[in-house]
Amino acid sequence: MITQNTIQQIQSRIDVVEIVGSFVKLKKRGTNYLGLCPFHNEKTPSFTVSPTKEIYKCFGCGRSGNAISFLMEAEKYSYVEALRWLANKYNVEIEETETSPEYKQVQLAADSLYIINHFAQEYFSEQLLETENGQDIALSYLKERGFREDTIKKFQLGYNPEGRDQFTKAALAAQYNIDYLQKSGLVTVREGNQYDNYRGRIIFPIHNQSGKVLGFGARLIKNNDKAPKYINTPENEIYVKSKILYGSYFARQAIDKADECLLVEGYTDVISLHQAGIENVVASGGTSLTPDQLRLIKKYTNNLTIIYDGDGAGIKAALRGLDLALEESLQVKLVLIPDKEDPDSYVNKVGAAAFTNFIAENKKDFILFQLEIALQDAGNDSNKKAAVVNQVAETISKINKAEDFTKQQDYIKRCSELLKIEESGLHALVNKLIREKVNKEENKFSRQRTDEEPPLPDEFSTGATEALSLFNKDELHERAMIRSLLEFGMMEWEPGITVAAHMLKEIEDNNLEELIDNKELVRIIQTYFTWYKEGMEPTAKSFLYHDDLPMSALVVALMDFNYEISSKWKDNYEVIVLSRADLFKEEVHSTLNYLKLRKIKRLISQNQHDLESATKADDQMIFVQIHQHLKKMEIELTKQLGIVIFR
Ligand code: CTP
Ligand code: MN
Repeated sequence: MITQNTIQQIQSRIDVVEIVGSFVKLKKRGTNYLGLCPFHNEKTPSFTVSPTKEIYKCFGCGRSGNAISFLMEAEKYSYVEALRWLANKYNVEIEETETSPEYKQVQLAADSLYIINHFAQEYFSEQLLETENGQDIALSYLKERGFREDTIKKFQLGYNPEGRDQFTKAALAAQYNIDYLQKSGLVTVREGNQYDNYRGRIIFPIHNQSGKVLGFGARLIKNNDKAPKYINTPENEIYVKSKILYGSYFARQAIDKADECLLVEGYTDVISLHQAGIENVVASGGTSLTPDQLRLIKKYTNNLTIIYDGDGAGIKAALRGLDLALEESLQVKLVLIPDKEDPDSYVNKVGAAAFTNFIAENKKDFILFQLEIALQDAGNDSNKKAAVVNQVAETISKINKAEDFTKQQDYIKRCSELLKIEESGLHALVNKLIREKVNKEENKFSRQRTDEEPPLPDEFSTGATEALSLFNKDELHERAMIRSLLEFGMMEWEPGITVAAHMLKEIEDNNLEELIDNKELVRIIQTYFTWYKEGMEPTAKSFLYHDDLPMSALVVALMDFNYEISSKWKDNYEVIVLSRADLFKEEVHSTLNYLKLRKIKRLISQNQHDLESATKADDQMIFVQIHQHLKKMEIELTKQLGIVIFR
């Protein structure tokens, strides 16, 4: 864990303009900076960075945050990775606290597993290369399949002998712990007996980026119906399937050089292509690609070429990874290997040069490929065709990065040609989907903790006017109240009384939960007043780097830029523009009143309900009195409220 002290040092040095500015070209505009939003496509800049508020906000797509969340979004860093990046940038030395016992436990398990895997890999290699049995049964099989000895050594292939516990015995004799041996998947224990899990199988070690063995794939020498062809290491502290790409250790440099990564299905495909001199290859292990795997690829290149055999299962798995790849803004191409071959058998059949040629000539654009197949399926059925249009729009909408803007336009053009529809229609559909998606993500991020409530569009997410009409007025006022608390809390309400003190009293008189529905907003107020009562003078900035990320994100989303702009207006044009700061009393007053009024209206309707179901005259009398009392309050508040509309 990074210490609080280090985190504070980092935060105190953060210059949001500098950080964001190293990824986005920014121009000074008044007190703020303006640039093209890196999170959505736009031609006129609406991405605004405020050095004084230490935040950014895009008025086009609605994304907002601080320097740390910017790094998390733009660079896909975790919170800790973002902190480390900043520490490095600002030369802050990182202090770490004592690690927790649980963490130590995981660390210990991971270390032990690496050591066991290393031992096992050497043991299996020796069995394959140095023993008569291994040579006769396993090495001969590999050679027959065309693998050269240097290749076998490079990939550290091995053999687990057929005996039931030969490896287990060797490992126990070398003092390895049986629990970890089980965890590693190398040994199974059934009814008190210990067995080699991979007995009689060829062993493919799976390496991490730096060449350490994470686990193994173990292949039967002769396919049979009773046992699975491959057994793989079970998930454990170091073998996390979703983060592994087989062959990445051997392919890194070649991928970098070729600026392209070839993706195949199997271990043998990787090895055979390597042997043929095509080294920029990794394998997914036959399942669909995960975000972590795609990110791994993206570290080296933006060009992904998926090479699968023409049969069904693999293709379907690959297609499932497509949308994700687009979101990572990878350029995806697809090549199908013909005639029931796979890359391994095909390269062995036609040779390296012909294979490379085949790939180059048959690369198909993934989206167009998907569209062609879908159109064939749909035939003349217009319902099905409409579904295809929607599906294609959905896919194209996933290409939602500034850098891919031209690509997106190009797809819209080419797909509408293929579909024989108006280009502008497809365009509109794609834009609608992009907006919906951004809305959804915004809400997911700022409202993670309130799953039970329906999602609500953010006021900025679809461009101010359109969103306003969609917007829930009540929530708007709840937000407005918190915004005025955050911005004006420390100002004077009456001599000697701060706005915060005034609001605190009102809230305590009214019961917070009855005043504010949104639980996230309630949490912000509670946090604010906890700090306030401790003698702090909270502002929006106090929340800015709070380690409760959803809460800090919501505060950022609430923060206002406009009032800075309006004060600049004042200077330049010498007209009197009343800013929110000038009108803060009125704003505080009317937000509170609106919420109080809402509460009273609810009480009235509850009371009405009680009155209707009351049977005794005495009770009815009481409810009528309550009604009159509430009505009076309602009229009073309505009078005070006037007409105030909040952004
Ligand atoms: N796979 C697996 N478990 C299985 C079958 C397959 O984990 N029971 C994974 C392996 O990573 C394998 C890949 O899926 O490499 C592709 O499977 P397949 O095409 O059946 O195997 P090949 O790699 O072609 O192996 P071989 O050529 O030796 O048959
Ligand atoms: Mn194969």
